[in-house]
Amino acid sequence: MKIGTAFVAGPTGAVGTALVTRLAASGRWTVLGVSRKSPRRPVKGVAYLQCDLLDPLACAGAVAPHPPVTHIFYCARATHSDQPVESTAENLRLLANAVDAVGRASGELRHVHLVQGGKYYGVHLGPFPTPAREGRDRCAVPNFNHAQQDFLSERSRSAAWSWSACRPNTLLHYSPDIGRNIVSTLGAYAAVCAQLGRALDFPGPAGAYRSLKQVTTLDVLTRTMEKIATDPNCAGNAFNVTNTDVFRWKAVWERLARTYGVDTGTVRPRLLADDMARRGEVWRRIRRRHRLRPAGLGEVANWAFADATLERYWDEILCHDRARRHGLDGRDDSVERFFRILETYREARILP
Ligand SMILES: NC(=O)c1ccc[n+]([C@@H]2O[C@H](COP(=O)([O-])OP(=O)(O)OC[C@H]3O[C@@H](n4cnc5c(N)ncnc54)[C@H](OP(=O)(O)O)[C@@H]3O)[C@@H](O)[C@H]2O)c1
Repeated sequence: MKIGTAFVAGPTGAVGTALVTRLAASGRWTVLGVSRKSPRRPVKGVAYLQCDLLDPLACAGAVAPHPPVTHIFYCARATHSDQPVESTAENLRLLANAVDAVGRASGELRHVHLVQGGKYYGVHLGPFPTPAREGRDRCAVPNFNHAQQDFLSERSRSAAWSWSACRPNTLLHYSPDIGRNIVSTLGAYAAVCAQLGRALDFPGPAGAYRSLKQVTTLDVLTRTMEKIATDPNCAGNAFNVTNTDVFRWKAVWERLARTYGVDTGTVRPRLLADDMARRGEVWRRIRRRHRLRPAGLGEVANWAFADATLERYWDEILCHDRARRHGLDGRDDSVERFFRILETYREARILP
């Protein structure tokens, strides 16, 4: 039986692609995906609409001819450089325009689900209270996650729809078109080290090598998003969603070095964005030698993103008590999953 019509903002992004894939495959949803560009690999069963959510009229025009939307899954994210701080004003406008356009066009809107992240707690800024609790540990420096949640909470009071949110931390995913990916970026780094006969030195500070991390696989995230958005008991709440286990980069590093046949190396802080920017020719040699798909190093790896991820010398642990109380039990083995995704990149001949 159909649950309803899902309006997915950002269906070509990391979260959005996985979500539309899940919703369309389930057969329970009519799925509309809204982004500016059309997808490079459209997902079967998704109606893609091209519009700029910064333009309220275009947004209203795009949704008008389609079946009334019952659920918004908001997975869009304003274009940002790879610096950790993102625009609050622009991200808020994107969300507000989507909600207003759908709200006006559809008399059947029941729920708006927002994707947030560890940035709610300031994971990108410095040490924060751990395990971070949804209702108590909003970081003192305002950001777009706060503004978007406040908007939904306020607007829903006088609306017929309810809201909810999920807070994943760094994502683990196979996304061949998205270089901003920690698995493919570290795989490319290891491949370059192997080609140069160098050790796999850890480029962040020692604390980042040893501190405790939590990440989120897209399978866990999208399954939980669908549950949250369709369970009335979850309405009005945000939920931390991670694999729930913890790991240290040290464990990943040792196995990554073995995978590529290089020494684990030492902690040697430096920016991969500087070091790797000069490795285009090395990558071309790797590609020829291993007969990889013709993708440039910049399409496989995002060094600034890796630098921002690996510089965090603090623990990144989110609390899952609220999720458990609501029967949200998604979990995964993060290190195992990292290497399974890496294998998928290798099998697809994107990485050696
Ligand atoms: N990626 C991560 O590791 C991670 C980790 C934790 C939390 N999160 C959170 O997850 C959410 C989604 O992030 P993501 O990384 O999946 O995003 P992403 O890969 O950057 O994708 C962004 C999506 O938004 C669309 N978009 C951007 N500007 C638009 C506009 N003006 N009008 C219409 N569509 C627009 C993009 O398509 P077009 O460019 O074609 O418009 C794309 O589909 C964010 O809140 C993020 O903070 C992400």
